[in-house]
Amino acid sequence: MNEPRVAVVTGANRGIGLEICRQLAAAGDIKVMATSRDEAKGRAAVAQLSAEGLRAEWYQLDVTDAVSIRRCVDDITTAHQHIDILINNAGIFPDTQGASASSWPSVFDADLDTMRRGMETNVYGPLRLCQEIVPHMKKRGYGRIVNMSSGMGQLTHMNGGCPSYRLSKAGLNALTRILSEELEGTNILVNCMCPGWVRTDMGGPNATRELPEGADTAVYLATLPEDGPTGGFFRDRKPFEW
Ligand SMILES: NC(=O)c1ccc[n+]([C@@H]2O[C@H](COP(=O)([O-])OP(=O)(O)OC[C@H]3O[C@@H](n4cnc5c(N)ncnc54)[C@H](OP(=O)(O)O)[C@@H]3O)[C@@H](O)[C@H]2O)c1
Repeated sequence: MNEPRVAVVTGANRGIGLEICRQLAAAGDIKVMATSRDEAKGRAAVAQLSAEGLRAEWYQLDVTDAVSIRRCVDDITTAHQHIDILINNAGIFPDTQGASASSWPSVFDADLDTMRRGMETNVYGPLRLCQEIVPHMKKRGYGRIVNMSSGMGQLTHMNGGCPSYRLSKAGLNALTRILSEELEGTNILVNCMCPGWVRTDMGGPNATRELPEGADTAVYLATLPEDGPTGGFFRDRKPFEW
């Protein structure tokens, strides 16, 4: 593709999402749409990138709000005609914020409203965004979708505790497979990934990875060549066990 690709990043105001915007903007031939639910935080993030000499545009987007999603996609496609890359990064850790493993809640104490909140943000948000954006990708015969999952969604190593987060990320992995199969042969590649344990508000101060490492695989998957993989789960640019 000769003209710059247009990339939409959700939850771009901080953490891994902001770092993904930074790396995409530094790539040079990608127009970065940094979205966030809060305007002040989103504009501050874009200003931070601008101070680093990197360009991104801000759009309002709450991934749990269908009206916000529709408006965001309409505004971006009106301004730029197309969307080529979608990075479903926005996520919440609904069980507890910043609790230690020893105090993670049991499935037997799980509050169903909390679980529904996790699904709304971590699964149905990405699903709604795909429903709105994939038709635009199909028109151009090009698309790269990256779903930010977690090792906590791996079935092979599924453990107890944190049922809301685990279930939602396992659901996001399943969504990745469903999308990729339905999009076979369209040049729209859909993959999910684990960033590792990254030092962010969610990951906490003891996390072992810095932001650039956490964002790297997302940028790799967002810029895959036409013969790149689809329907995969990745970590550190390599296939990761489901
Ligand atoms: N950090 C890790 O170790 C780690 C490990 C595995 C996977 N992940 C995944 O990586 C992704 C990013 O995590 P992070 O560590 O960067 O977390 P973070 O620092 O907590 O950032 C989360 C981002 O998601 C946004 N968000 C939450 N709900 C939203 C909504 N309804 N609409 C739009 N944006 C929303 C937040 O916006 P506000 O500022 O408005 O809240 C924030 O920008 C998440 O999907 C997470 O599950 C992280």
